[in-house]
Amino acid sequence: MNLKELKEEVKQALEDISDPKYLESLRIKYLGRKGEVTQILRSLSKKSLAERKKVGKEANQLKQELNHLFNKKLEELKMASDQQVGLDITQPGARVKIGHLHPLTQVENQIRKIFQDLNFSVLEGPEVESSHNNFDALNIPADHPARDMWDTFWLKDFDNLLLRTHTSPMQVRYMRENKPPFQIIVPGRVFRYEATDASHEINFYQFEGLMVGDDVSLANFKYIVGEFFKRFFNKEVKIRFRPSYFPFTEPSVEVDIQIPGKKDWLEVMGAGLVHPNVLKAVGYNPKHYQGFAFGGGVDRLAMLKYGIDDVRLFYSGDVRFVQQF
Ligand code: DAH
Repeated sequence: MNLKELKEEVKQALEDISDPKYLESLRIKYLGRKGEVTQILRSLSKKSLAERKKVGKEANQLKQELNHLFNKKLEELKMASDQQVGLDITQPGARVKIGHLHPLTQVENQIRKIFQDLNFSVLEGPEVESSHNNFDALNIPADHPARDMWDTFWLKDFDNLLLRTHTSPMQVRYMRENKPPFQIIVPGRVFRYEATDASHEINFYQFEGLMVGDDVSLANFKYIVGEFFKRFFNKEVKIRFRPSYFPFTEPSVEVDIQIPGKKDWLEVMGAGLVHPNVLKAVGYNPKHYQGFAFGGGVDRLAMLKYGIDDVRLFYSGDVRFVQQF
């Protein structure tokens, strides 16, 4: 059989193949180690140089062509079987879904970043606290009515342990271990034993700020808080302080902001100068040091930023909600 005939024979055979296994056996028959084309190539050594050149070239060409034909056929068979199982390989691939950070985490990260840029150190504290750190050292004694400001989850079977009701106990922990001057920010989860509604959750996120030095004043705070809100909302935000009461600050203020274009003033933070009793409780001399503290809600800022009207959405686990951020 000459090479031409061989090629025709293979082409014919490939036409009616529908079984990939049979295709493979055919491939071996022609192109395998003992296959017909291979044998032609092997037998060349007994031929004259001129013939070797001519036939060798042709046989090698044929080998390539046949290889190509076999591969093409194999592809066709694969495609046909894909179509049988309803697979359309011309369809664009399905996009792989990857998750992203929860909106509260995104906002918390942004808060961290802004304060870091303002030269604050970021720290975190434990969610289970002693009543000493959460209350007493913050100038809220056990019998003081101010305790009613924080409805508390107490730990069963543990005296004086609770789920922190605010991030303020980190003021106590930090000051006990460090000497001024410093400025810190403490984001973290806090807990309240409350009925939930659109603006109350049993847990939510706060960020606590504390700056203490020789002569740190409310004027310094005003600058910091102004910078913070300007960077957070990316706008010139108006700030106003309203007199308020917190046991751990004196004087105490409520920080309100007005976002450009909006009519309402929004209450966004509690703050004040650290109360001398708090400084004493951590072993500082209030004559030597003074500073400001503030506490804000991450959830509240996230709600303002994105126009969300129900805090419970953050904790709903509903992907239709979180996917929007
Ligand atoms: N800890 C307060 C709360 O959860 C918020 C707060 C108010 C923090 C005034 C402060 C502060 O540091 O100075 O309601």
